[in-house]
Amino acid sequence: MKRRQFLGTSLAGMGGLLAGCGGGEGDSSSGGGMTGVPPVTGDALPEGQPLRPLAALPNESGQAEQFSGTLAAAPTLATLIPGQSTAMWLYNGVIPGPLLELREGQHVRIRLDNRLPQDTTVHWHGLLVPPDQDGNPMDPVRPGASRIYEFDVPTGTAGTYWYHPHAHQTVAEQVARGLAAPLIVRADDDPLAHLPDVTMFVSGLRLDRNAQISAHSPMDWTLGRQGEALLVNGGRLPVHTVRPGTTQRWRILNATSARYLRIALDGHTLTLVGTDGGLLAAPIAGLSEVLIAPAQRIEVLVTVDATPNARYRLRALRYESEFMGLGTYRDDDLLTLATSAEPSAVPADIPQSLRPIAALGVPSAQQRVELSESMGMGMMGGGMFGFLINGRSFDMNRVDLTTVQGRVELWDIVNNTSMDHPIHIHGTQFQLASRAVAGVVTPAPHLAWLDTVNVPSRQSATIKVRQTMPGKRMFHCHILEHEDAGMMGVLEVRPS
Ligand code: C2O
Ligand code: CU
Ligand code: CU
Repeated sequence: MKRRQFLGTSLAGMGGLLAGCGGGEGDSSSGGGMTGVPPVTGDALPEGQPLRPLAALPNESGQAEQFSGTLAAAPTLATLIPGQSTAMWLYNGVIPGPLLELREGQHVRIRLDNRLPQDTTVHWHGLLVPPDQDGNPMDPVRPGASRIYEFDVPTGTAGTYWYHPHAHQTVAEQVARGLAAPLIVRADDDPLAHLPDVTMFVSGLRLDRNAQISAHSPMDWTLGRQGEALLVNGGRLPVHTVRPGTTQRWRILNATSARYLRIALDGHTLTLVGTDGGLLAAPIAGLSEVLIAPAQRIEVLVTVDATPNARYRLRALRYESEFMGLGTYRDDDLLTLATSAEPSAVPADIPQSLRPIAALGVPSAQQRVELSESMGMGMMGGGMFGFLINGRSFDMNRVDLTTVQGRVELWDIVNNTSMDHPIHIHGTQFQLASRAVAGVVTPAPHLAWLDTVNVPSRQSATIKVRQTMPGKRMFHCHILEHEDAGMMGVLEVRPS
């Protein structure tokens, strides 16, 4: 009862903060104070330029079976708004960072040069990389230092991934400043190889009135960073022009820190063909929308309308993540799909089956992961709420859960908080088994490989999960502010 009252009071306080920021008179440079959530100047970003193709990181090895490359994480002045420069932190000076295009079976060797004024790491989100090569917060690369990440890309892992920093308590800031990039693993036997393949990397950008990356506010540390301009391949509302009638494969990545993207395309339905870990067993056609939680990726097929010279909007529909109405995410437009003046293309063949997905076997152990709220944690710039996993805040020197290499487990992820959390586990692709709402259990509609599952407020998700390499893995909420504020745990995988 007391707790509930306290919650009410704190929320009233936040309502005031929200109202206060509406005027937009906040001091943009102070950053993170109780007053003045910095104004968004996303409106000043140029809009409507052609969708940028993503520049791939060159393979320096000269051999197909080996990928060698260099990433420098460095402060960079970028021109986002004509006539103004924005101090960013970027991989190799580009927004987003270079596309890392790998092939199944390849051996990968990438050097990271850290030219940032703080620790960083590179985490290969979703890939099956050995724990000591996966950019854990326990393995920081110090300012001015370099390290080599080395791993193999297993067969069967073709899909859409991304990479981003993962040092202790600085992930949200480093990503907000620009450090995030797409990663695609290609297969030799891709059943959709005949279709044009378009990657759409969605990231968030929030600038203050001096066109600098705005600092995190206490609201950000509570709800996750909101009110950002959404960029696709680094551009605001880009135009993607295609011949009418064309069928394309779109890989859409949610690389925002906290935005739920309910994707819908005006005048079209979407055919879902892939999730985090690659293709589904069979296409799911006729979808009017698809939800991409923070950190998730989808692959969809779009058969573009046969009308020439038409325009359609790709939208991120309003999504409410509860939290007493404060965690409400506005409607936003992502991109314009434009058809050219050419005559309509002949519709492409869509295979009815894509690849087999074997169900993970019968689980031989069960784990419980309970998400809860705590009041007045005072962490990370004064956020009023902390979010905990099994009642604890992250400690990299503690082991929270243990498993055995190769063992299939059932994880019950129970969300006892008032907002949604996208829960991510490193080093594995898992399968959703069921969801439960008020005791009513619904089995997952189809098999799919996921590394992040959204667990809505007051609901639970049960997943089947298996780790294949010994060592320490992170599991956490992928609202980056929650992760930094401690909503993360360590899973120790013991050798079998
Ligand atoms: Cu993409 Cu541990 O994160
Ligand atoms: Cu990850
Ligand atoms: Cu969270």
